[in-house]
Amino acid sequence: MNRAIAPTWRSELGTMTQRGIAMNEARVLLEEVSGRRFADLFADLDDTLRDEQIDQLESLVRERLSGVPLQHLIGHWPFRELELTVDGRALIPRPETEELVSVALAQLELARKGATATDLLRRFRVVDLGSGSGAIACSIAHEDTDTQVYAIERSLGALSLVADNVAQLDANVRTRITVLEGDWYQPLRDRSIGEVDLIVANPPYVTLEEWQQLDSVVRDHDPVEALVAGQTGLEDLAVIIAEAPEFLRDGGSLVCEIGSTQGEATRSLATRAGARTVEVKRDLSGRERILVATFAS
Ligand SMILES: C[S@@+](CC[C@H](N)C(=O)[O-])C[C@H]1O[C@@H](n2cnc3c(N)ncnc32)[C@H](O)[C@@H]1O
Repeated sequence: MNRAIAPTWRSELGTMTQRGIAMNEARVLLEEVSGRRFADLFADLDDTLRDEQIDQLESLVRERLSGVPLQHLIGHWPFRELELTVDGRALIPRPETEELVSVALAQLELARKGATATDLLRRFRVVDLGSGSGAIACSIAHEDTDTQVYAIERSLGALSLVADNVAQLDANVRTRITVLEGDWYQPLRDRSIGEVDLIVANPPYVTLEEWQQLDSVVRDHDPVEALVAGQTGLEDLAVIIAEAPEFLRDGGSLVCEIGSTQGEATRSLATRAGARTVEVKRDLSGRERILVATFAS
C-alpha cells in the first residue's frame, strides 16, 4: 500500500476504529501483527510498521469488516487458563461456557468432600458431551488434575479440532483425556463406561427460528449443527438429561448449559429423570443458564 507517511501502531489503531472495528478488537489485531502483547506495545505505539505488517493488518481488517469473526482471523482464543485453537470446525467457545466449567469444577469439589478414603484414591471420571473445540474437556483436565476426562463429539471436523487442542496440552493433562466419536452416550455404551462422577454438556439448544434471528457472524461462521437442536430447542437436552442416570455413579452430577428460557423445562426433565436434587443457576447477568442435577443410583 502506498502511504506518504509511514503508519505507526497508534495511527493504525485510530484508522481501524474509524473504519468500524471496535477498540478491543483493534488491539487484538495489533497484537497479532506485532507479535507483542498490547501492554508491551503500549510504550512503542509511535514506532512505524514494516511493509509486510501493513499488508497483514490491512488484510485482517478487510476480512473482519467482511464479517469474519476475530477468533477465526487470528485462529486462537483464550478460554479460562488455556489458549485454544479455534476455527470453522467447531463453535467458538463462549464466555458463558467458562462459567459452566466453574460450576462443573465446583461439583467435583463437592463430590470429593463427600467421598470415602478409597474413593479419593481414584481419578474422578468426567464426560464432556458435544466437545466442539474441546474447551470444556481440556479446561477440566487442566484445572483438576485428579480427573479422567472423556470428550464425546459427533462432528468429524470438531473431533479433529478437539484432537489438535488436546495435543497442545502438557503430557500430564492430555494423557487424561480420551476423545471419542459418536452420538451423545453411545461411545460410553459401546465401551461399557459407567460410574461417571460428572457429565457436563453445552449441547445445541436453539430452534431453527431462533438461529435465523442470530447475528450473521454467528450464522455464517459457527456450524449450525452446534447450535440448533430442533423444533423446541430442547431435543438434545431431553436425551442428555433422560439418559444421564444410566451412566452416573451414585451421587454423580449432570451440569448443562441451557438457553435463558429453558430453566423450567429442564428442571422438570431432570425431575422426571429421577434427579435427587435439581438447581438452575443464573449467569453473571442474572439469566437462568446452567442446570445442575444430582442423581442417586
Ligand atoms: C454448542 S456446541 C458446544 C461445543 C463446546 N462444548 C463448547 O462449549 O464450546 C455443541 C456441540 O455438540 C455437538 N453435537 C451435536 N449433536 C451431537 C450428538 N448427537 N452427539 C455428539 N455431539 C453432538 C456439536 O457438533 C457441537 O460441537
